[in-house]
Amino acid sequence: MWQFETSRCYCTIIDAPGHRDFVKNMIVATSQADFAVLVIDSTVGGFEAGISKGGQTREHALLAYALGVKQMICCCNKMDATTLLYSEARYDEIKKEVSSCLMEVGYDPNEIPFVPIYGLEGDNVIESSTRLSWYRGPTLYQALELLIELKCPSDELNCHPLQEVYKTRSVRTVPVGGVKTRVRKPGMVVTFGSSSLETRVKSNNPLFDTEEKVHINIIVIGHVNSGKSTTTGHLVHRLGRISNHYLQRLKNEATEGNKKSSKYAWMLDKIKAEHERGFTIDISLWKFETLKYYCTVFDAPGHRHLITNMIIGTGTFQVDCAILVIDSISGVFEFGISEEGQTLGYALLAHTLGVKEMICCCNKMDATTPNYSKARYLKIRKAVSSYLKKVGYEAGRIPFIPISALEGDYMIQRSARLSWYKGPTLYEALDHIDEPKRPVDTHRGLPLQDLYKIQNIGTVPEERVENSTLNSGMVFTCGLSGPATEVKSLEMDLDSLLEAGMTLL
Ligand code: GTP
Ligand code: MG
Repeated sequence: MWQFETSRCYCTIIDAPGHRDFVKNMIVATSQADFAVLVIDSTVGGFEAGISKGGQTREHALLAYALGVKQMICCCNKMDATTLLYSEARYDEIKKEVSSCLMEVGYDPNEIPFVPIYGLEGDNVIESSTRLSWYRGPTLYQALELLIELKCPSDELNCHPLQEVYKTRSVRTVPVGGVKTRVRKPGMVVTFGSSSLETRVKSNNPLFDTEEKVHINIIVIGHVNSGKSTTTGHLVHRLGRISNHYLQRLKNEATEGNKKSSKYAWMLDKIKAEHERGFTIDISLWKFETLKYYCTVFDAPGHRHLITNMIIGTGTFQVDCAILVIDSISGVFEFGISEEGQTLGYALLAHTLGVKEMICCCNKMDATTPNYSKARYLKIRKAVSSYLKKVGYEAGRIPFIPISALEGDYMIQRSARLSWYKGPTLYEALDHIDEPKRPVDTHRGLPLQDLYKIQNIGTVPEERVENSTLNSGMVFTCGLSGPATEVKSLEMDLDSLLEAGMTLL
């Protein structure tokens, strides 16, 4: 459905939605985008809004460049608008302004075709339009034909899949890429994505440059409303490095609407909103420390796809540990583990996607009937452990911790209100998880992107082939630590391929 052909290329086209995070995922998450078509609204006011500070024209171009999309075509769309009437002067004005913006971003505007189009009626999309007879350049179709053929990256040792670009306050633009093999040291030159953007490693970990602790990635999962954000917020607030000044600012900005969520969830939601709005985020917000580990924590949103992306999609990391948050309140827990609930589905997803360690938290113990009820805890533990065993976890190894993320019981400190419980706090349980083994020099560890179950075939991993090529019969490993498997066949959508250099299903 999303494919078309020119005489030279077989094109897969992705129609980007508005949100920055989605655009980013589209560029890098499943396959590296090769070309970007930047569509500009040429109408009076429309163009100005897009190119303004808050507009997305500039930001999307920057994102495309930073994420390694080397070639761009600009389309000045809506040239039919009554105020424009296919105006050459308007086209020139837009071209001038967008060119200077693209130059700032890093592109060479001389290499970028600017095509005036009327997308709705098709003027200059495939064939030249007489209504734009003053324009002598290529149509969009012809411009696609003129794109320079791509080179797939070969076995480049220091080439990382580029996953994200941050602008941090003191460090400036920081690319994020997954280091899957070997060690990167300050001074080494590395490249990102299939682009040739080269950069020198400045420091290994600007956030944590004191003593060396092992870094682990944690995802917090669970049924909707179970207290994931409250749990995450509590950990980050108590053990992280959010400055009091920053917290105070968030509090001052809070509106009545925001206050309806609990104190920690509210804090996290606010930080998230900041992240989503702008290009500037402070990555230290999602980190905290235990005695043994530096932890990066991801507060999972409701949607399954987003969770898949969080566990493996960015490829920057492999999640090492999942905290499964269970709402212990009567009726709510039962719904959470029912067919419609998300508790068990997420546990299965975590296991399938290779999350080795799991910690279960029976949350909201302050609100069980009676409160802090041991019977309730035991009932939940029994039901959930038997399921986790089915999923494939070694249930005996999984700690079940009764907590109140809101009140703080057994999060970091013990609590007399749960005196019947003798196990570790959540904080202690994190230190008890096995140190993750990072693979050294595994060949062909492909970043796992998704899993499909296809009738008659079974489970099919979707991966991105970043370096060199894959052929039928080759053996490779899934993800960072997945099982070795043999390539049975290669397909691009429904067509067989002899060799895969970019995308493999
Ligand atoms: P979604 O992201 O919407 O799926 O929710 P979530 O799992 O992140 O839950 P969140 O942390 O937003 O909490 C949901 C509600 O449960 C909020 O009203 C919290 O105040 C409440 N809550 C969370 N933890 C506790 C707890 O330990 N005790 C009690 N009584 N309420 C809690
Ligand atoms: Mg939440």
